Amino acid sequence: MMPLVLPALFFISAVSAATSGLHPVVLLPGYTCSQLDARLTDDYRPFTPGCGIPKQGRGWFRLFENFTALQEDPGLLPCYADQLRLVFDPVAGDYRNLPGVETHVVAFGTTRGFGSNNPAQKNGCMERLVKALEGVGYREGANLFGSPYDFRYAPAPPGLPQRAFSTFVSSLRLLVEHASKRNGNKPVIIVTHSLGGFFAMEFLNQSPLPWRRRYVKHFLTLSLGIGGPPGILQVVASNPGTPPSSLLDSVLSFGNRSFASMLSVLPSPNVYGHTPLVITRAKNYSADDIPEFLSAAGLSDDVVARYRTRGLPVTLNIRAPLVPITCINSVGIPTVDKLVYWDGNFSVEPQVVYGDGDGTINLATVLALKRVIGDDPHQDYFKSVFIPNVTHDGMISDDFALKRVVGEIIEANQRL
Ligand SMILES: *[C@@H]1O[C@H](CO)[C@@H](O)[C@H](O)[C@H]1NC(C)=O
Ligand SMILES: *[C@@H]1O[C@H](CO)[C@@H](O)[C@H](O)[C@H]1NC(C)=O
Ligand SMILES: *[C@@H]1O[C@H](CO)[C@@H](O)[C@H](O)[C@H]1NC(C)=O
Ligand SMILES: *[C@@H]1O[C@H](CO)[C@@H](O)[C@H](O)[C@H]1NC(C)=O
Ligand SMILES: *[C@@H]1O[C@H](CO)[C@@H](O)[C@H](O)[C@H]1NC(C)=O
Repeated sequence: MMPLVLPALFFISAVSAATSGLHPVVLLPGYTCSQLDARLTDDYRPFTPGCGIPKQGRGWFRLFENFTALQEDPGLLPCYADQLRLVFDPVAGDYRNLPGVETHVVAFGTTRGFGSNNPAQKNGCMERLVKALEGVGYREGANLFGSPYDFRYAPAPPGLPQRAFSTFVSSLRLLVEHASKRNGNKPVIIVTHSLGGFFAMEFLNQSPLPWRRRYVKHFLTLSLGIGGPPGILQVVASNPGTPPSSLLDSVLSFGNRSFASMLSVLPSPNVYGHTPLVITRAKNYSADDIPEFLSAAGLSDDVVARYRTRGLPVTLNIRAPLVPITCINSVGIPTVDKLVYWDGNFSVEPQVVYGDGDGTINLATVLALKRVIGDDPHQDYFKSVFIPNVTHDGMISDDFALKRVVGEIIEANQRL
């Protein structure tokens, strides 16, 4: 009898969600908002002696981000950082976890795997947006779904291996189809914050156009720019001089800046042309000079080569997703436009030249959305919304912004 009960239950909740009239929503959070679990096998050879022993063969644990565990035992930091870094496998021609480290995102399909147990990060990962959506009738698992993703990896250009990203693409495709089926076959609304928008855009462009048109009602991006903010260059340049204060700092320094995604969010020549972004007495670096900049900042020739073969081509190939899109951005907050390392020493704090933006992404990358997407003659519907004086994370946590965001989601629901 049991097998009959389940489909019946599904049928009832599918009907109630369908009659609420809402299109299902799938959320993708920003950078570092997806939690990752890991397990270590005997193949794991820790960079720091002793890191493997307590956990090898002991099953899954929260690798990113268990703030509590790192508070209780700060000695774990280099171990977690080592286990979180990626390596490039020259035989596979692709990024991998370290041998002996297995990882997966937590609670795929739901929003429960968003965020960390760090109290300071409480509202930066869509928690308040989820609450606001519940306020207008959305229900987790019925018409509200979450797509965490492994933010360390990145899409590769056509023809190159991208195992982790391909896994993400197939999982998200199944999730979107499931969300649609549970809601009377209504197409879904994909809502993203920050880097989630880049992952979703690549996901859409790697999915067949008829599939996109069948399953995607609307694509709504929050705080997304195209072409990478100059502020990222400071993160890349900073040398691991001082002891890292967080796991992420630690990976970006100790982990030797190993994330594939780092190379996909660098400023694009399409957006900045020859404008100097990093200024030194001897030489200026524009987006055209990123390879020289990476070398000068101490990254290895291998990393620079991968920027040329993997990161840059994806950046240059960003294009209209050809589904209805609304881009909500904020302006009016001082945002890094240029960095001045006058003596050419990237280990010192740069002097910062500020421009307009949301404090994280600058106006130039936001205006590029219209050029790249809005002006594409095949892109039928493009709407750009600006909210003044809201920060990058305020977009998904300030009451005023949330009200506007939810209003746009309702409007997307009602568009014919
Ligand atoms: C985080 O670490 C704490 C303390 O070590 C542990 O009790 C807790 O279960 C961990 N959380 C998760 C989600 O694994
Ligand atoms: C990472 O950088 C440190 C310090 O520069 C260096 O000693 C170490 O060998 C590097 N680790 C890896 C795995 O490349
Ligand atoms: C670098 O750019 C600055 C600001 O645009 C400019 O004033 C300066 O002449 C440039 N320096 C070099 C070495 O090209
Ligand atoms: C760069 O600055 C760092 C930090 O102030 C200093 O330790 C280092 O010696 C400087 N390097 C050069 C080449 O001047
Ligand atoms: C944004 O904030 C600044 C400084 O608080 C204020 O001067 C300005 O009027 C605000 N702009 C808008 C459109 O609210």
